[in-house]
Amino acid sequence: MRIKINENFGNIKESYLFSDIASRVKAYEASNPDAKIIRMGIGDVTLPLPEPVVSALHKASDEMGKKESFRGYPPEYGYAFLRDSISTHYAVLGVSVDPSSIFVSDGAKSDLGNIVDILGDNQIVIPDPVYPVYVDSNIMSGHNITFINGNRDNGFLPSPSELSDKNIDGAVIYLCSPNNPTGAAYDRNGLSEWVDFAMKTGSLIIYDSAYEAFISDDNIPHTIYEIPDAYECAVEICSFSKFAGFTGLRCGWTVIPSTVKAGGHELSALWKRRQATKFNGVSYPVQRAAEAALTDEGIKALNANIEYYKKNASLIAKLLDSKSIFYTGGKNSPYIWLECPGGQNSWDFFDRLLHEAQIVGTPGEGFGKGGESYFRLTAFGSYEATLEAVERLEALLG
Ligand code: MLT
Repeated sequence: MRIKINENFGNIKESYLFSDIASRVKAYEASNPDAKIIRMGIGDVTLPLPEPVVSALHKASDEMGKKESFRGYPPEYGYAFLRDSISTHYAVLGVSVDPSSIFVSDGAKSDLGNIVDILGDNQIVIPDPVYPVYVDSNIMSGHNITFINGNRDNGFLPSPSELSDKNIDGAVIYLCSPNNPTGAAYDRNGLSEWVDFAMKTGSLIIYDSAYEAFISDDNIPHTIYEIPDAYECAVEICSFSKFAGFTGLRCGWTVIPSTVKAGGHELSALWKRRQATKFNGVSYPVQRAAEAALTDEGIKALNANIEYYKKNASLIAKLLDSKSIFYTGGKNSPYIWLECPGGQNSWDFFDRLLHEAQIVGTPGEGFGKGGESYFRLTAFGSYEATLEAVERLEALLG
């Protein structure tokens, strides 16, 4: 063929981090068929959906099978019942988010990747280490990225001061808190610094709050809109995946307040136009299930699941404390980000862990240069598997 392809794809890694890990594990399994592998790599939930969510799914599916309650295409931005429930969820968190600024989608990953469509060729600021979607989707669009370093000194929470030698003017800044992969979370002061910086430099913050439900400390904001100026400079992207166990069902949302404006346009108008053209909405049963997740009953059941995962995280944290291994996360997050013992490179540690302890984790390097000697473990497994992993790790670390 003589067509041209998007040459920017030549600038991203050949395969996506988690696909790469999966194929290494598959190869190991093929030559070690009896190995009892414990998976603590991809942050995928393992507890089943709670009863209120499952019965909402059943009920909505039954409705789809009856003439009088059948529904065709869903609204592109989400059914009013779900946008209202998400708005109420924000009210419970103490902030006001109008349902008209909420856009329901099939998950945070899609929105984080797709938001690039409505933005031009801006300065892009991304912390390193980071969830690879922000980086790859900007490289696919040919954008240059300025990385800011997360490291042991700043607790993997870089602040705008890291940009003091750069001339930032109208940048798109990606933040994730509690962070994937490091589990570190900005407190109110830390997040306010970023909002102030965005206001001062005419920048936009894309705020990924997918792990918000894991926050237990009072001084950590659950939403960027706890900082009032964020209504003018921030888009928030969230997900039902981690808090409600929807990794398989797929549902998330993006908030774009009407007060976020650039180039003479409300960004929400551009997003509406983008979604109406390229997206046909989330299925009715899934939106009913998401609505059920946000009821009092749903939240109660989901909080129990989150506590379960956090108990796993504390098991891992306890082991690392006892071995004096530096780590972040585990408290307001399902992720533990640890320094590879003995200064080992993260892929070498990955291989060692897989071969000697049959544990799969995620090498920090997959999240950027700043992760080269770090490693991520997730607490999303079963309690029994986590306990066994901790025992195996203890034996490995000596
Ligand atoms: C992760 O392991 O980083 C996440 O599961 C990836 C995702 O949410 O897409």
